[in-house]
Amino acid sequence: MTMTIPSLDPQSLIVILTGAGISKESGLDTFRCAGGIWAQYDLEDVATPQGFLRNPQLVHGFYNGRRAGLLDKEIQPNAAHKALAHLEQAWPGGVLLVTQNIDDLHERGGSQNIIHMHGELLKIRCEHCHTITEWREDLGLETVCGACQRKGGMRPHVVWFGEMPLQMAEIGEALQKCGLFLSIGTSGHVYPAAGFVSDVQQRGHGHCIEMNLEPTAGQSLFDDHIYGLASEVVPDFVQKLLATLPQACA
Ligand code: APR
Repeated sequence: MTMTIPSLDPQSLIVILTGAGISKESGLDTFRCAGGIWAQYDLEDVATPQGFLRNPQLVHGFYNGRRAGLLDKEIQPNAAHKALAHLEQAWPGGVLLVTQNIDDLHERGGSQNIIHMHGELLKIRCEHCHTITEWREDLGLETVCGACQRKGGMRPHVVWFGEMPLQMAEIGEALQKCGLFLSIGTSGHVYPAAGFVSDVQQRGHGHCIEMNLEPTAGQSLFDDHIYGLASEVVPDFVQKLLATLPQACA
């Protein structure tokens, strides 16, 4: 496939939205692919505040399993995560990585300017005192908050359906000024992330590219489409984009 590389002012900000597809080749399941997470579990049971109220043990079990899976030594960042870290380090105008993923593979791949809009699997939060704590163990009703010493109020620091995603003001500001918006490995079914491309397009400038295994729900809103495995198309795109920089910047 021929890849169109936009001509972009090196001083313009790049905003990148990632979804479960970027971590698929690292060994983590996506949500909506055949046999994905929502084929195995009912999201109303495990990813809503109501589900947590009804059956907290079930919800803790779901996230305990995913947390243990993420910490398996086989699960490592892939070439796509690493390429985005390289882009962040090399692009003069800056890169903001907004991920819907709750895994830490972008951090382990070397990215630093990251917003986890759907929270983080390796953090927990106390519903009594709101303290957020890094956490790599199982979590349960007996877990005591290290800050307020109360138990029964600890929950995964993740955003459930019906809750407000995190750092939306910062994301909105970046979408208003970016020169390039990339959407990688997300099916475009979940808002507000699925609406970011429209936010950029409504400004009348800002180039939008979708990179995914297949066309997504919002494909018609993008200026360009690059279909293929993230571990292949993302490094290729990053290399070609960086090659457009004047020699002094590259
Ligand atoms: N490379 C590129 N894209 C891939 C790859 C791959 N190796 N494997 C799968 N994909 C694509 C799929 O084709 C699909 O379009 O990744 C996309 C993953 O889509 P979803 O499973 O819907 O995941 P995502 O878009 O991240 O879901 C959004 O939904 O349930 C919630 O909170 C959860 O953050 C998640 C949100």
